[in-house]
Amino acid sequence: MDRSSDAEPEWDSRAYDDAHSFVYEYGADVLDLLEPTADERILDLGCGTGHLTGRIAETGASVVGLDRSPEMLATAGDTYPDCEFVRADAREFAFAEPFDAVFSNAALHWIRDQDAVLESVAGALAPGGRFVAELGGTGNVAAIVGAVDGELERRGYTADNPWYFPSVGEYASRLEAHGFEVRYARMFDRPTELDGGADGLAAWLELFGDDLLAAVPDDEREVVVAAVEDDLREDLFADGTWIADYRRLRIVAVLPSA
Ligand code: BEZ
Repeated sequence: MDRSSDAEPEWDSRAYDDAHSFVYEYGADVLDLLEPTADERILDLGCGTGHLTGRIAETGASVVGLDRSPEMLATAGDTYPDCEFVRADAREFAFAEPFDAVFSNAALHWIRDQDAVLESVAGALAPGGRFVAELGGTGNVAAIVGAVDGELERRGYTADNPWYFPSVGEYASRLEAHGFEVRYARMFDRPTELDGGADGLAAWLELFGDDLLAAVPDDEREVVVAAVEDDLREDLFADGTWIADYRRLRIVAVLPSA
């Protein structure tokens, strides 16, 4: 699937929910940074299957989940029928009523045009509103990307890293350029156990690695993934579980009050 380009994204939302629940389970920590309250209106940007949207709604806040994927939104709507979900592109959305906060977990790194995202976020917030987000930071999944790059190069292909993993400095500057004041920014390693036991890395690449492996013909994918597993086993596989080398960037930024 491709969330970064203009191509229509296509997600297997059930696989995402069943085998990659860590994406939103870890997101609960970011909710602590958001500190939603019952009187607030909040946008969950890149809400996926809506689990964190549902958690925000439990606080009594009025919440809207936004995603570009119809598959994700269909699952979100089935699971949380009382929440409002909207299909839109994070690079160009607008709402008539402003939000007190925009929240985003593990979605922004799929989008290369981050200036367009931040312009939309700033435009959607009320004066004094806050933007609370977590995304992959510099070096995120570098071992996995490096192993795929190496294997593709050996086979005469070029890997195209589809993700945007900024540093603290880069993202803070970008936020400031869009009128935000950065109140909190933190980069940290978060080794992440992949679901699926011995098949966990292959399943992760199947769900998330379509663009990274785009140059590889379908009938060659299995052997490429097996070679990547061989390359990474010593460093990322322990006690029957693959552990991806995730690095997270968390930020809290606010717009000036009117
Ligand atoms: C992440 O959450 O860091 C991530 C997920 C899928 C692909 C790349 C990064």
